[in-house]
Amino acid sequence: MKKKLLYVVGAVVAVVFIPLIALAGDDNVPPITNALVQEECSACHFAFQPAFLPALSWQVMMQNLDDHFGEDASLAPGPLAEIEAYLVENSKRRGLVDVDNPPQRITELRWFTQEHNEREVRQMRERNNVKSLLNCVACHRGADRGIYDDD
Ligand code: HEC
Ligand code: HEC
Repeated sequence: MKKKLLYVVGAVVAVVFIPLIALAGDDNVPPITNALVQEECSACHFAFQPAFLPALSWQVMMQNLDDHFGEDASLAPGPLAEIEAYLVENSKRRGLVDVDNPPQRITELRWFTQEHNEREVRQMRERNNVKSLLNCVACHRGADRGIYDDD
């Protein structure tokens, strides 16, 4: 009961505040400074910066690496602990999280779908021959440095 109420309040607060945050123009994120994260998390796709997802999202993701979007991305316990700690430490701090269902995809977040509207993205794809939206650095040339607002 209590949880449900919190969720409703959260939805209202999110609707009011997310556009404000978007307007504040906080589009760049700190680059990844941990070599292990950079290496392990760029084996199959661009290494997304931890500031794009909240801590709980990373924790859930790191506990399910054996079925990571259909792939086995398992890690040994040592590296796993180091990577999870780094992701959590540098995770997104603001905004509310649905604790029962923390987001697992950056590309499904509301700000992301708004910034990457179909028409713009199609044009970008045609120009750059980019196959996947997950290839951030193909369109944002400073993406590996956390720079997304310079193009
Ligand atoms: C064995 C390959 C592999 C490795 C290693 C891997 N991933 Fe992934 N990851 C995938 C695949 C496949 C997808 C889904 C791709 C798609 O939807 O096109 C994905 C998707 C993601 C997404 C969601 C992207 C979005 O917004 O749609 C995140 C976040 C992510 N991975 C984080 C990580 C992190 C953090 C690590 C390092 C611990 C990691 N990945 C290592 C294969 C991998
Ligand atoms: C096909 C090209 C393309 C890909 C791939 C792409 N983006 Fe974008 N992105 C754009 C366009 C176009 C915009 C909107 C125009 C702009 O502001 O640069 C944008 C805007 C953004 C913004 C807001 C920047 C601003 O100045 O307001 C962020 C942050 C961002 N993208 C992050 C990402 C991340 C993270 C990824 C990978 C998961 C990604 N993008 C993948 C084309 C792309």
